[in-house]
Amino acid sequence: MTPKLLHPFGKPGTSGHRNLVKSEGVRLWDDQGNEYIDGLGSLWLCQVGWGRPEIIQAVTDQLSTLVYNHFPPWGYDVAETLADKITSISPLPDGRVYMCCSGSEAIDSAFKIARATAQLKGEPDRQIMLRRTRGYHGVNVGGTSMQGIEPNRTGFGDLMPHIIEIDPENIESAASVFAEHGPNIAGVISEPVQGAGGVFPPNGEYLQQLRDLCTRNGSLMILDEVITGFGRTGSMFAAQTYGVTPDLITFAKGVTSGYQPLGGVIVSRDVCDVLEADPDFILRHGHTYSAHPASCAAALVNIDIIEREGLADRANHIGERLSAGLQALADDGSIREVRGVGAIWAARLNNDDLATTVAVRDRMLDLGVVVRPIGDSIAFCPPLIMSDEDVDKMVDAFAQALRDNAAG
Ligand SMILES: Cc1ncc(COP(=O)(O)O)c(C=O)c1O
Repeated sequence: MTPKLLHPFGKPGTSGHRNLVKSEGVRLWDDQGNEYIDGLGSLWLCQVGWGRPEIIQAVTDQLSTLVYNHFPPWGYDVAETLADKITSISPLPDGRVYMCCSGSEAIDSAFKIARATAQLKGEPDRQIMLRRTRGYHGVNVGGTSMQGIEPNRTGFGDLMPHIIEIDPENIESAASVFAEHGPNIAGVISEPVQGAGGVFPPNGEYLQQLRDLCTRNGSLMILDEVITGFGRTGSMFAAQTYGVTPDLITFAKGVTSGYQPLGGVIVSRDVCDVLEADPDFILRHGHTYSAHPASCAAALVNIDIIEREGLADRANHIGERLSAGLQALADDGSIREVRGVGAIWAARLNNDDLATTVAVRDRMLDLGVVVRPIGDSIAFCPPLIMSDEDVDKMVDAFAQALRDNAAG
């Protein structure tokens, strides 16, 4: 059979060559009988592990009861209950939640909400959005335009105008853009911990200083918590880990741990007040599958598990053990640097080239551990239920792969 699937982020003429057939707990299996420890939570998304019967049951029950209906005047309890739950655990408890199906849709929704807010406030020229170098914000047109990973932006012709890139570490870069364009800046988008760009926690007070610049200039701070939300950094949201209160929070991935597609934007009360001010205003933005009941049902049980099993705390425990193992490799010179927070970490290899990181990743797959090569680093983002024993196995496989690679 000629492969017909056009793979995401792949060469169009090729197809996946490890065919997965099963997932359970923190493990995956392929059709050759190989077993893998899922050291990346699939794609930075699985907090509660695979095969949770209560999530599967909740989705089945929901689909057996009500599949879908959409847009006003329709509504349904499971979506309201989830919006209430998400706001209650977020730093924006009196806001509202917009829901869609992915992180990319969440980002473009936040982009449009930020722009709409300025327009509604009578500031038509406030259209500039700031992005950080290394930022990843998905693949829709707004998110592609706002991402700071240059190769992901090129090859598609013209993208959105009015976007300015700032340095991801040095707040002076943002300060000088604000000094020049402040009244025209609609918002700044930033991952609290840059993920796909290589796992970079914020430098010192960077996020708080960015918040301050936004507040002083009447611009919105958008925190992209698609990876960091739902326990990953040791709190429900990284905004809480770092003590910043943004105006908009985008989320996806960990909200359902990948059992159903769901993304969204938590909108602060201040922004809601602008959107709600004119009773005749219609926010002409919405996806067919906004707040799909089956996704909401999965998310409610997933969040309940995260809370009940204390998985945000567990993220810190995993991180302490994982980073200690990685640090030992840095101390003996096997790698150059260890970066991370909670249960998201990266190890910078001694070589700069992607070919080496890919070779190390491939060797780790042979040793039964899934990680991600990014530039000169290997990223780890395991499910938050991973046992100490499996964390140690990941570190051992990494050390072995480094040794094998050095031996050629
Ligand atoms: C920080 C961040 N934002 C947005 C996205 C896009 O999410 P999705 O792939 O669900 O569209 C991702 C995906 O990895 C992400 O890491």
